[in-house]
Amino acid sequence: MTYDVAALRAQEYPWMDPATAVHLNSASTGPLPARTVRAVGAFTALRHDPRAMPDTLLFDTLTRSRALAAALIHADAGEIALSVNTSYGINVAAAALPLGPGDVVVVPDGEFPANMYPWLELAPRRGATVRVVPLRDGWCDEESLMAAVDDPAVKIVAVSWVGFATGYRVDLAALGRRCRERGVHLVVDAIQGLGVLPLDVREVQPAILACGAQKWLLSPWGAGFTYVRRDLIPRLDPPFVSWMGVRNSDDFRNLLAYDLTWRDDARRFEFVTVPFQDFAGMNASVELLLELGPAAVAAHVRRLADRVVEWTGGRRGMRLVTPADAARRAGIVCVAPPDPEATSERLKAAGVIHSQREGAMRLAIHAFTTDADIDRALAVIGGA
Ligand SMILES: Cc1ncc(COP(=O)(O)O)c(C=O)c1O
Repeated sequence: MTYDVAALRAQEYPWMDPATAVHLNSASTGPLPARTVRAVGAFTALRHDPRAMPDTLLFDTLTRSRALAAALIHADAGEIALSVNTSYGINVAAAALPLGPGDVVVVPDGEFPANMYPWLELAPRRGATVRVVPLRDGWCDEESLMAAVDDPAVKIVAVSWVGFATGYRVDLAALGRRCRERGVHLVVDAIQGLGVLPLDVREVQPAILACGAQKWLLSPWGAGFTYVRRDLIPRLDPPFVSWMGVRNSDDFRNLLAYDLTWRDDARRFEFVTVPFQDFAGMNASVELLLELGPAAVAAHVRRLADRVVEWTGGRRGMRLVTPADAARRAGIVCVAPPDPEATSERLKAAGVIHSQREGAMRLAIHAFTTDADIDRALAVIGGA
């Protein structure tokens, strides 16, 4: 079956039009599909008049969110803790994974602050230090990361799957293997990759993987999830205590029989109440991405990203910030023109929604992007 981007656009994003409105900004915030807007609206309408709201709606919605998040990464639903952003999961990792005096956490330089500040603050509180591995050629230096894992003091490696400012994609399977061999916990910030690339956590086996859904998962702000590997769940004490993180909290008739026995699954890390309507929206968006098929989305995005890479390579004065090698990128392609401010202004005037990062135009190519969108963006960047 061919990938039908025209049908996707007609159904979910009728406002997009290469002549006037090109969206290349999912690396900042993904546009909500029409079905997601409807799902959030319908859910919110029930708050206005709750007479039609089934008793089970709230928690069934979250059960569905865990199942969908698990399906997306080939995890078990019991390994998913719903969370409102990426930072939550990184904080859980920094506060709950075993770490003590003399231990070292390795983080590559160039990380988005969400995967830097929690380590810089929380690791020293526990007597550990953070070792920042310098970039090589502007990208995450995987060779040095791998070498760092050999140091017995290193207990945790924390990386972004895809770099927010470069689009560089880390080989998670290789890093995961190395970490496993050395008994080191791998923590992954997946927000810049998931939704545009398939991921199988069984191949990577991270200890914890954090993902906000507001970018490539095309979901409302306030939705996201944290994966915690099954074998670790009973060994990790939640750093924050939610009244629903314990076993007997499902029976609302009996809440005063206080019993601080953690749930057996990753819900011990959830911080309920969460924005239910946003998870209803996330469900609609993730269903859409699963319907399209993560492999098909990845192939579509790769072909369009290849076009940008090729175009940039042939232009004097344009610098490709993202690796040319498709195995080393996802949906972000960053192109640095000689005049970033003026180029960004031209793109804005042409209706090309993008972001500027570190002197480059960050173009985020997603399932709904068309060849005509790419033609338009490149023409404007090229000075047309
Ligand atoms: C790599 C990366 N991690 C995390 C975030 C955001 O973190 P949070 O979901 O906690 O707002 C971003 C972008 O905003 C990002 O690019």
